[in-house]
Amino acid sequence: PAYDTLLVETRGAVGLITLNRPKALNALNAQVIGELARAFEAMEADEAVGAVVVTGSEKAFAAGADIKEMAAKTYAEAFLEDFTPVWRRLVACRKPSIAAVSGYALGGGCELAMMCDMIFAADSAKFGQPEITLGIIPGFGGTQRLAKAVGKAKAMDLILTGRMMDAAEAERCGLVARVVPAERLLDEALEAAAKIAGFSRLATLAAKEAVDVASEASLAEGVRFERRLFQGLFATEDQKEGMAAFVEKRKPAFRNR
Ligand code: HXC
Repeated sequence: PAYDTLLVETRGAVGLITLNRPKALNALNAQVIGELARAFEAMEADEAVGAVVVTGSEKAFAAGADIKEMAAKTYAEAFLEDFTPVWRRLVACRKPSIAAVSGYALGGGCELAMMCDMIFAADSAKFGQPEITLGIIPGFGGTQRLAKAVGKAKAMDLILTGRMMDAAEAERCGLVARVVPAERLLDEALEAAAKIAGFSRLATLAAKEAVDVASEASLAEGVRFERRLFQGLFATEDQKEGMAAFVEKRKPAFRNR
């Protein structure tokens, strides 16, 4: 098969990537990370896919980077192997993504969830960056993305104490977009992704790109960037179709043009 540690499928216009390394609670070893990058590239390349859902098992989204794989590593090995380019391939996906998190999202697992565009959490979800308990710190972007998502106070608390937070706290502090009963989690994520995939892809990709600029640029630069994208969408057939459909009180048929 193309993937050993993932299940990769499409459901209508939604790509579904399921971490499938149950014996290690979906711990992210080099193979899983490489396959994730490949799966995201496949979703990006598949014209039929308009949005992507990443999920794990009921017990664990992912319990972190693989500690057994990391344990004996030297500085030189860690330095030379640097996973940053591999994660960059995943983050480079322009299609909107949802992490559907049930159970543990710890360390690299929490960082993977934060690389997606939004997180839906089961009420059973537990988020944390426990790296400090292992004598290291987050290394897949956790100190940066968590601080941006929840602010300095909560990021310092989680990263310095290594404690976990539950779904309710994660929603309160803005890490999580929605909390749903565990048995509803995947359906809720797939339905949201299908909804996104049903809109004009020109608009959904532009919306994602514009929101992402908010964490990089000044307000003035970000607003200018948004305005240019907004204006550009008036050159699309989908804008004409979307507005005509509203006026004519019918459903729009977007064609991604
Ligand atoms: C390797 C892991 C693992 C991990 C769990 N397992 N997490 N293996 N790496 N991160 C394995 C266990 O060794 C065990 O295998 C099996 O999964 C089941 O786990 P248990 O511990 O028996 O389950 P449970 O008692 O229910 O506890 C669940 C848990 C605990 C609380 C999630 O497993 C845990 O604390 N895991 C480590 C979490 C963590 O520290 N993550 C951060 C990693 S560092 P065996 O074969 O022993 O039965 C990181 C760095 C990111 O992510 C940046 C790197 C650059």
